[in-house]
Amino acid sequence: MPLSLNVKLGPLELATPLLTASGCAGYGKELDQYQDLSCFGAIVGKSISREPRLGNPYPRTAEVAAGMLNAIGLQNEGFDSFVKSTLPKMRSFGTKAIVNVVGHDFDEYVWLCRHFDAEQGIAALELNLSCPNVKGGMKFATDAGECERLVRACRDATKLPLIAKLSPNVTSISEIARAAERGGADILSAVNTFVGMSVDWRRREPRLANVTGGMSGPAIKPLALRCVHEVARAARLPVIAIGGISSADDLLEFMVVGAGACQVGTYLFVEPDCGAAIIADLKKKLIEAGVQSPSELVGTLKV
Ligand SMILES: Cc1cc2nc3c(=O)[nH]c(=O)nc-3n(C[C@H](O)[C@H](O)[C@H](O)COP(=O)(O)O)c2cc1C
Repeated sequence: MPLSLNVKLGPLELATPLLTASGCAGYGKELDQYQDLSCFGAIVGKSISREPRLGNPYPRTAEVAAGMLNAIGLQNEGFDSFVKSTLPKMRSFGTKAIVNVVGHDFDEYVWLCRHFDAEQGIAALELNLSCPNVKGGMKFATDAGECERLVRACRDATKLPLIAKLSPNVTSISEIARAAERGGADILSAVNTFVGMSVDWRRREPRLANVTGGMSGPAIKPLALRCVHEVARAARLPVIAIGGISSADDLLEFMVVGAGACQVGTYLFVEPDCGAAIIADLKKKLIEAGVQSPSELVGTLKV
């Protein structure tokens, strides 16, 4: 049988197991010049809220060893403008469009799910349950009861495949994963950024105006692997891994611990054409290993 990169995550079928991570690829337009975007199983857009958001004061990013900190604060154009101007373009790249949604409160998430449900050409909704960089943005990611209540209400508001994106900034990610499963999520994605900080000691100042920010990039990969391993064991849902992925080997490591697909985020800032390179290398590695589908590797970790 010839090699197929096709993967199935519950109701979501993807032509490849590599997706872009929210906030790291805009809505596809900027990346399109670097590679044929069909190398990605889906483009996941930056979080969209009901109203436009300006985000946090600058500076909002800082480079750190093997990664970056960001406190963008969910800047986005808001639902109306996104649906009118950006979504049609996002649907035109020869790959699936996944919309990531974020609300200030419960009602805003539900409103967004209901309104996106009426739009054409959306493959799935990803709920950004956690936003460490906005005030009060962590409740749904850290409290299992709140998480379950929100996911259930979003589930009732849309028939689209629903992905619950988990935060690593919790005592037990397994507990939150199970809460999202009980609420009716189809898929879990893990993880969002780790809260961190960077300081310029000469100025005695934090490097981010927000003081703290979300840590991402290759430095967090071992931390994310541990989270994905836990999540995959705790819940029966398919898992999309996120955190520090920069190569086909990284993607395969996450699949072995239980991910059905992976998102690449920060590394797109280093190598904007890494999607095509990762997929080319993935094909080579799977053929070398005598594997006909990446799905054969999912959860095969010997422990
Ligand atoms: C600049 C930047 C902006 C981000 N914006 C969002 C966002 O709007 N919504 C979201 O769910 N995650 C956002 N994230 C988190 C990423 O989607 C991803 O979960 C995280 O960066 C870990 O993956 P990575 O190490 O491959 O970057 C953002 C990350 C970065 C670096």
